[in-house]
Amino acid sequence: MYLIRNGHVVTATESYVADILIDGERVTHIGLDLRESLKDLLHNCVEVDAEGKYVFPGFIDPHVHIYLPFMGTHAKDTYETASRAALVGGTTTLIEMCCPSRQDDPWEAFQLWKSKAEGLSACDFTFHMGISRFDDSTESKLRQIVAEGITSWKVFLAYKDFFGVNDSELYKTLELASKLGVIVTAHCENESMIAELQKRLLEEGKTGPQWHEPSRPIQVEAEGVQHLMTFAEMTKAKVYIVHTSNALAVEAAMRGKSRGVDVSVETVIPYLVLDDTYAQQPNFEGSKYVMSPPIRSKEEQPKLWQHLRQRNISTVATDHAPFDFVGQKEMGRDDFTKIPNGIPTVEDRVNLLYTYGVCRGHIDLNTFVDSASTQAAKLFGLFPKKGTISVGSDADIVIYDPSYRGTISVNTHSMATDYSAFEGWPIEGKPLHVWVRGKRQVEDGKFVGEMGHGQFLRRQIDASAT
Ligand code: URP
Ligand code: ZN
Ligand code: ZN
Repeated sequence: MYLIRNGHVVTATESYVADILIDGERVTHIGLDLRESLKDLLHNCVEVDAEGKYVFPGFIDPHVHIYLPFMGTHAKDTYETASRAALVGGTTTLIEMCCPSRQDDPWEAFQLWKSKAEGLSACDFTFHMGISRFDDSTESKLRQIVAEGITSWKVFLAYKDFFGVNDSELYKTLELASKLGVIVTAHCENESMIAELQKRLLEEGKTGPQWHEPSRPIQVEAEGVQHLMTFAEMTKAKVYIVHTSNALAVEAAMRGKSRGVDVSVETVIPYLVLDDTYAQQPNFEGSKYVMSPPIRSKEEQPKLWQHLRQRNISTVATDHAPFDFVGQKEMGRDDFTKIPNGIPTVEDRVNLLYTYGVCRGHIDLNTFVDSASTQAAKLFGLFPKKGTISVGSDADIVIYDPSYRGTISVNTHSMATDYSAFEGWPIEGKPLHVWVRGKRQVEDGKFVGEMGHGQFLRRQIDASAT
């Protein structure tokens, strides 16, 4: 039992000072001076003074890659490293992309991905099920996976050789999702345009990481979004656009919405704080900033912040996809198309969004909580167990210290990668204590938790769907 005293509680809609009682895995009481009003109840209760600190609901990262065979290599983290990093950074629930290749069996892939997390993760977790092929056997397997509590899927309109679906597969996937009440998350980029642009750039001898962005310009992404909107409009599927990097793409989604498409938009922290000059750094340093869609020009940043403020962008995730610089990013030294795509960020999302979003005046505290926790819980069937602080909700709680000053560094991070994309960046706040379902996993900023405490979150299908 924990009594968190006098904290400044912030949810997506409220902001107030109160005490919070955690009993077992849940929040059982919220109110003023609970020590007095509950004195007969508080046996063996650990008091935690939160005066002058924020008390946030555990943050949810709805887009991470941990086990990821991709571009001839494997992402670097395991659940031991990634869940520890997530928790130190205030994230208590991970939604991982289960990404089978075209030839893989979906059910076996789901079991494989789950086996990488179960009994090993320190934070709670679930998956978006990747659909990389749709043939006669797919529907029954997907129904089986949905019955196991996976109520969101993932499609890639890019990466045709790894995970991508063709248009008839996309149509069938969305049609089935609509029938089952499943939400489909989608990576939106036009694959053919990318292939053509990559070919031309390489023919001109443009092989460095700075050419990654010109090979996938904003129009390529906006076209992918527009494409998805057409399919979602026809099938009436509920869709979610992952890692949206620019305003043109957000606007394509908003046009779909105005035609009645049930669409939500995610951006990821790198697009809000980094710009394309990072990928232009010499000595192949730019490869550390190669992800897809690419990091855009600085002019996109205020537009994205504005869409976030207006809530046209619902969530801020990471798209955590960790590859080492040495031996992995280096695979693309002579050809940017071979640089493994991705940036390790799961540990830093909350601190970056707080420092460069809230402290710089781009978003308020409620929008911060909403976009980094509550919306993901609502969209992916976890609310109100997760994503808020209320009586009965899971005691996933972050006590956040806004007076902390420090810097991000590879030397202190918990992620497994050999670099940080934010080396030396100042942060103005950090999680002090973090609970996952009533168990304190981070104390005084240090991981003190138990690996394996994290649970697989079985989600319910929307009951109104057939
Ligand atoms: O560059 C990225 N985004 N890497 C991970 C795979 C994906 O597209 O989400
Ligand atoms: Zn993607
Ligand atoms: Zn991703």
